[in-house]
Amino acid sequence: MKLNTRVSPDIDSLSRAALEQVLADMQEAVKLRGRFAIALSGGHTPSKMYALWAQNEKYRTETPWDRVHLFWGDERYVPADDPLSNYRMTRETLISHVPIPAANVHPAPTNLPTPQAAATAYDADLHQFFGSAPPAFDVTLLGVGPEGHTASLFPGSPALEEKKKWVEAVTAQAAPPNRLTFTLPVLNQSRNTYFLAAGAEKKEILDAIRAESDPAHSQYPAARIQPVDGRVLWFLDEAASR
Ligand code: 6PG
Repeated sequence: MKLNTRVSPDIDSLSRAALEQVLADMQEAVKLRGRFAIALSGGHTPSKMYALWAQNEKYRTETPWDRVHLFWGDERYVPADDPLSNYRMTRETLISHVPIPAANVHPAPTNLPTPQAAATAYDADLHQFFGSAPPAFDVTLLGVGPEGHTASLFPGSPALEEKKKWVEAVTAQAAPPNRLTFTLPVLNQSRNTYFLAAGAEKKEILDAIRAESDPAHSQYPAARIQPVDGRVLWFLDEAASR
């Protein structure tokens, strides 16, 4: 499959390029629909982008925070203050530095008796926000793991076959194993999907994804991100793209 890429020299310029794209989408969404819903990703790559959003005065002050709604495309099933929590990473880099109303921050719950109960609760949060129609996020940020996972959809996971539920509890082949993830029916509705991948260690999986001839059935979950009516862009640094 052909990847639609934007290549930047390094992770700092990649973060800036991706953020500028996100902010342009935000302005358009707010103008057209009065709000901007973004599904954030975890992992280490996007943290620079979140920090830039919070620290750069122009980006921070041009953002209509009362119109911005933050969700997470996946979450590790750990307490919200755990170092592995994607919510915690976003809180430390972005949320605690900007005037976003608390009601606009929609973390995946990780304090319920079971991950399954939490998946059901997050699914209900999404339905409350989007109604019964498929949830069209304005932007979904994703990363890719060395074996092709994206969000917390790992190769071979039964969650890849889910057609109805919007959120699934999964057991990942990665630490921590218990996670919540959006399913393909949600991920493939997004208006704009931006993968962020930096570093030479991403090169091999990107080459493997490029070599896939039937992306919708690929063994690599990241290749299965084929939004019905949206675009996918891969923000790469030179080391990942070379
Ligand atoms: C997570 C993720 C995950 C991530 C990739 C890439 O919570 O682990 O959302 O899908 O995006 O593993 O992670 P890096 O950016 O750390 O390489």
